[in-house]
Amino acid sequence: MANEGEIQIENKQIIFKNYIDGRNPNESDMELKISKVNLKVPKGCGAILVKNLYLSCDPYMRGRMRDYADSYIPPFVPGQAIQGFGIYKVIDSDNPDFKVGDLVTGITNWEEYSLIQKTEQSRKIQSRDLPLSYYVGLLGMPGFSAYAGFYEVCSPKKGEYVFVSAASGAVGQLVGQLAKLHGCYVVGSAGTKQKVDLLKNKLGFDEAFNYKEEPDLDIALKRYFPKGIDIYFDNVGGSMLDAALLNMKTFGRIAVCGMVSQLSVFDPEGIHNLFLTYGSSGGRGDDGGGSGGGDDGGGGGSRWCLGQ
Ligand SMILES: NC(=O)c1ccc[n+]([C@@H]2O[C@H](COP(=O)([O-])OP(=O)(O)OC[C@H]3O[C@@H](n4cnc5c(N)ncnc54)[C@H](OP(=O)(O)O)[C@@H]3O)[C@@H](O)[C@H]2O)c1
Repeated sequence: MANEGEIQIENKQIIFKNYIDGRNPNESDMELKISKVNLKVPKGCGAILVKNLYLSCDPYMRGRMRDYADSYIPPFVPGQAIQGFGIYKVIDSDNPDFKVGDLVTGITNWEEYSLIQKTEQSRKIQSRDLPLSYYVGLLGMPGFSAYAGFYEVCSPKKGEYVFVSAASGAVGQLVGQLAKLHGCYVVGSAGTKQKVDLLKNKLGFDEAFNYKEEPDLDIALKRYFPKGIDIYFDNVGGSMLDAALLNMKTFGRIAVCGMVSQLSVFDPEGIHNLFLTYGSSGGRGDDGGGSGGGDDGGGGGSRWCLGQ
C-alpha cells in the first residue's frame, strides 16, 4: 500500500528461482514477476531510485547461481531479482553525490526500477557524447578486463604472437583489437563459422578457427602458431588451456581472465600440461629469449609465467 502522497507503479523483475549445479542455466531457473515500487526514496536512507536502461549479462553471473559463498562476490539470493552491471538514470535521490537525471553505471537489479542503497561502486557518466551501451562494453567491465589483462598482465611487445580464446566474446574481441593496434599477430578461437568470419573479416584478427571443428587442439594451435605463442589470453580454461600450454614460447605469458568452459560442469577438467610451466628442454620457438629459470633446481628454466 502506498502512503498518502507516494506514487507507486508496476515494476517488472527477473527473479532468480534457485541454485543450479552441474548444468547450464535455463529460462525456467528465472521467472518474471510484477511487483510495485515507490517512486520516492525514503528520507534519511541515503539511497537512490533509478530507472534501469541497460543490463549486462556476463559469465561471472553463472558463478553467482551456485550455492557457494567463498567467491569474491556473494551468490544470488533465491526469490530476489538477479543482480548485475547496468546503466541507469536517477529518478529520485536521498544521496548528495547523485541528483535526479544523472546517468550512472554500476551494480543494479534485473528490474525496471531499483532502489540502490550501496552506491560505492556507482560511477556517474560524465560524457553524453558516446552511446550509453558503450558503458557495459568497451568502457565497462569487459573493456577494463581486456585492457588490464592484455597490457598489465601480458606486457605485449610489437610483433608478438597472440592467441585469444572465446575471441568473439565481449572481452576477447577487445583483446584481439588491442593486440592488433599494438602490432601483434593475432589468432582467435570461436564456436561457430559466423563468429570466425566476424573475427577475420570485421574485427581484424589475422586468423581465426572454430575450436569445435578441431579434433586435436594441440595440432590446431601448432598449425596457427608454428613458432609458438607469446601471449595466450585465456577466457575458457579446460582443454584449450591445456593445448595452449603445449604451444607457449619461452617467456610466454598467459592471462587467466576466466574459465567459461568449466562454469557449468560437475567435474572440472584437469590441466595435464602444467609441468611445462616449470621446466622444459628448450621451449617452442626458442629464438633467443634465453632460458631464464635460475635456481629452480629443475634444470629446465621457466618456459612461461603468469602476469610477468
Ligand atoms: N565480461 C567481463 O567483464 C569479464 C570480466 C572479467 C573476466 N571475464 C571472463 O572472461 C571470459 C569471457 O567473458 P566475456 O564477457 O567475453 O564472455 P561472453 O561475451 O559472454 O562470451 C562467452 C563466450 O564463451 C564461449 N563459451 C561458452 N561456453 C564455452 C565452453 N564450454 N568452452 C569454450 N568456450 C565457451 C562462447 O563462445 P563460443 O561460441 O566462441 O564458444 C560464449 O559466447 C569469461 O571466462 C569471463 O568469466 C569477463
